[in-house]
Amino acid sequence: MGERVFINDVGPRDGLQNQAKVLTPEQRVQLISALVDAGLTAIEVGSFVLPSAVPAMAGTDKVIEALPGGIASSQVYYSVLVPNQKGFQLAQSAGVRCVEMVVASTETMNTENIRRTTEQAMAGCEQMIGLSKEGGIDSLACISTAWECPFEGLVDADIVIKMSDQMLNWGATRVVIADTIGAAGPDAVHELMNSLVQRFGAEHLACHFHDTRGMGVANTYAAVSAGIRHFDASVGGLGGCPFAPGATGNVATEDLALMLSQAGYETGIDLKKLVAAADLAGEMTGSPAGGHSSRWLKRQIEKGAL
Ligand code: COA
Ligand code: ZN
Repeated sequence: MGERVFINDVGPRDGLQNQAKVLTPEQRVQLISALVDAGLTAIEVGSFVLPSAVPAMAGTDKVIEALPGGIASSQVYYSVLVPNQKGFQLAQSAGVRCVEMVVASTETMNTENIRRTTEQAMAGCEQMIGLSKEGGIDSLACISTAWECPFEGLVDADIVIKMSDQMLNWGATRVVIADTIGAAGPDAVHELMNSLVQRFGAEHLACHFHDTRGMGVANTYAAVSAGIRHFDASVGGLGGCPFAPGATGNVATEDLALMLSQAGYETGIDLKKLVAAADLAGEMTGSPAGGHSSRWLKRQIEKGAL
């Protein structure tokens, strides 16, 4: 068996939050169940944010109540995004065992996304990491727009290195380096991830790529080559960020799973079932869902080769 690479499907959060159509909590649970069935062992199931800011994430508490295996399932590592202490408290009361918080690398992006300066956002992050540690909850600290910001342009690697260092010192379980607008290319990804791995070790890092320029899979490969083994991806390539102009879908989970398996890695994912989950996401959201590989994958399924 090949070396394991872990994929966290963020479609039910990053994917759905940017769809024109708002799904019911029941539909969101149906999508999550299809992902569990397809072998995903980590899923971001929603967020505790201001419902008026992100209507698609209202009712995350109801989603949590109906998750296959329960929120504390030992089979699937469920996480939620929290923007502030209030969100953290709601997540904690719902029995969540892993929270994700996001700080952007630039001032403008923090202001647009969470109405905080970077300093305020980092202070909030420190507090929430502290609360997570006290409560025995894992914390994923995400640095968004890590390569390029839609407002401020190219981001200096030293900023990302310094923020990662602080987040890990505060006790974050892992730092997630995110290309929120899908602007990075493989060389830039390899360079930054390589320097982060040298400093902090690959087990404390993850990557989150968007496929805006079709480079999500190439960027993943570059990060794998730098030693990264944890990735976010979104079923059917659903996604975007409502607060980052130009951000389109996340790299599709099926594209990552296919590339990784061809490169000899083990993901535990059943591609046939994952394609079915992507179709379900497409039907429910009414927007086309599917990665670059989905036509080929479907032909293999028709031929009985998958
Ligand atoms: N969940 C639900 N309600 C919340 C909340 C949360 N996490 N955080 C704050 N609120 C409520 C407050 O209780 C307050 O309610 P009140 O007016 O009845 O007293 C109100 O919202 C305003 O609180 P405030 O702290 O001033 O928040 P804000 O208006 O500055 O909004 C955020 C800040 C971060 C909560 C909001 O902008 C948000 O949720 N953004 C979404 C970010 C996101 O999901 N981005 C995409 C992923 S990266
Ligand atoms: Zn994203």
